Amino acid sequence: MSPESKTEKKTYPPLERVPAHVGIIMDGNGRWAQARGLPRLAGHRAGTDNLRRVLRATAEFGVHVLTIYAFSTENWGRPEDEVHGLMELMERMIDRELPKLHEEGVQIRHIGRLERVPDRLKEKIRHALELTKDNQRLILNVAFNYGGRSEIVDAVRRIIQDGVAAEAVDEALIARYLYTAGLPDPDLIVRTSGELRVSNFLIWQGAYAEYYVTPTYWPDFDKDELYKALVAFNQRERRFGLLPG
Ligand code: IPE
Ligand code: IPE
Ligand code: MG
Repeated sequence: MSPESKTEKKTYPPLERVPAHVGIIMDGNGRWAQARGLPRLAGHRAGTDNLRRVLRATAEFGVHVLTIYAFSTENWGRPEDEVHGLMELMERMIDRELPKLHEEGVQIRHIGRLERVPDRLKEKIRHALELTKDNQRLILNVAFNYGGRSEIVDAVRRIIQDGVAAEAVDEALIARYLYTAGLPDPDLIVRTSGELRVSNFLIWQGAYAEYYVTPTYWPDFDKDELYKALVAFNQRERRFGLLPG
């Protein structure tokens, strides 16, 4: 029996509360590779492979929406070969995983801007969204060419284009113009690799999210690690600005 199938047999004590929406800042691929004397892209490849097992674990624990931060609007500023490699990995990921994800009832969504994305990848993303749009088991929301600030800029532009009156602008209206319209706000945001920052991820929607940071690099973040994050979430007292109740 491989170590992986052993892990899958492991049982986890039930959780009292399961977050409806979990966001993950999948960070640390580069350092994971560096620690092994490998090129950064090898880390990204390992990170992509890891997504499959985390996705499965997320669904098993009963989380309904998973938003993953895959590529930020700032990541374009990395060396060209890394950016190119990341685009290729995304394509390969769709080619390889889409049929299975569809079969497993995963609805794929995209948040971010598509305009700078290479045409072939853009087409593949569109196809994945269209194919899976009626699936209900798990919503996989992929933040790709995503920035929280550009999301707000895009929302404001569309609000103005729609001729919305100033008095009609409130928090609910803005939420409806964000890429995440219709989805619940994230309850829990996990960041791997130890950085204590948000890096432009779900800055509006995460206003009252619980944050959890682990030093583990993303390619090593497994089902046990996810369970630990969910346990930590259960130990938090969410107050939303009110008094402890
Ligand atoms: C996260 O890993 C993946 C992306 C940002 C695309 P990094 O590439 O940021 O890895 P580190 O932070 O350099 O280790
Ligand atoms: C955030 O990680 C973006 C993704 C995980 C896709 P970064 O590595 O880009 O963030 P910083 O540069 O450490 O803030
Ligand atoms: Mg990083």
